[in-house]
Amino acid sequence: MYLIDKHNLPKHIAITMDGNGRWAKTKGKLRIFGHENGVKAVRDTVEGAVEIGIKYLTLYAFSTENWSRPKNEVNALMALLVNAIHKETKTLMDNNIKLDAIGDITKLPQKPQKKLLEAIEKTKNNSKMNLILALSYSGRWEILNATKKIIKNNLSESEINERTFQQYLSTKDVPDPELLIRTSGEYRISNFLLWQIAYSELYFTDTLWPDFRRTDLKEAIKEYQSRERRFGNTN
Ligand code: FPP
Repeated sequence: MYLIDKHNLPKHIAITMDGNGRWAKTKGKLRIFGHENGVKAVRDTVEGAVEIGIKYLTLYAFSTENWSRPKNEVNALMALLVNAIHKETKTLMDNNIKLDAIGDITKLPQKPQKKLLEAIEKTKNNSKMNLILALSYSGRWEILNATKKIIKNNLSESEINERTFQQYLSTKDVPDPELLIRTSGEYRISNFLLWQIAYSELYFTDTLWPDFRRTDLKEAIKEYQSRERRFGNTN
């Protein structure tokens, strides 16, 4: 039984989808087979999140560091992304989901970039849930990028505080995630949302990403709800 308290839901859940390669290996298949099955996990998790009433879901789909993977894996991941975006835009529309992306999107090859921007444009008025894909993203890149923009805009020292800095991040106007999930039994942050996770609850599961389903998401939310969040206070 997954009894979730609807009055204490995290507004924003971020997920590091890890373990596609190892999942494929256990099946004696190529890594890309793991990524293909990772897309199924994405679909079920997104549907589950909408069903539960989550407002923001951020998925770490491709990190800045992932560019150094073998060229054929990078190409296959990009192709998978284009396909998934193309195939799922209708599902996003039917479910009233707004798609967004964070990261250095200009680094993506032209085709995935174009498909992504089209889907973002098409879904921009949807309002049930925000699905944010982190693509060519890293937390340090984002913080450096924000700093550069602040310098370019000539902000004075007194104007710079947490609230203004936040406005220069790619998650501008998005609440910080209350819950960060990482799959595959790795206990690392790996450069994901470094600024935003200052007070996030961290949830780690051994489940490899292609096996992750909405029931696992509910399990993570239940665990989150059982924790007491104090934000550095004593009570
Ligand atoms: C991590 O597993 C996964 C990735 C680097 C890619 C995630 C991409 C998808 C799930 C598919 C496309 C996404 C969308 C949003 C349609 P890994 O390769 O690091 O696995 P390993 O740690 O076992 O090697």
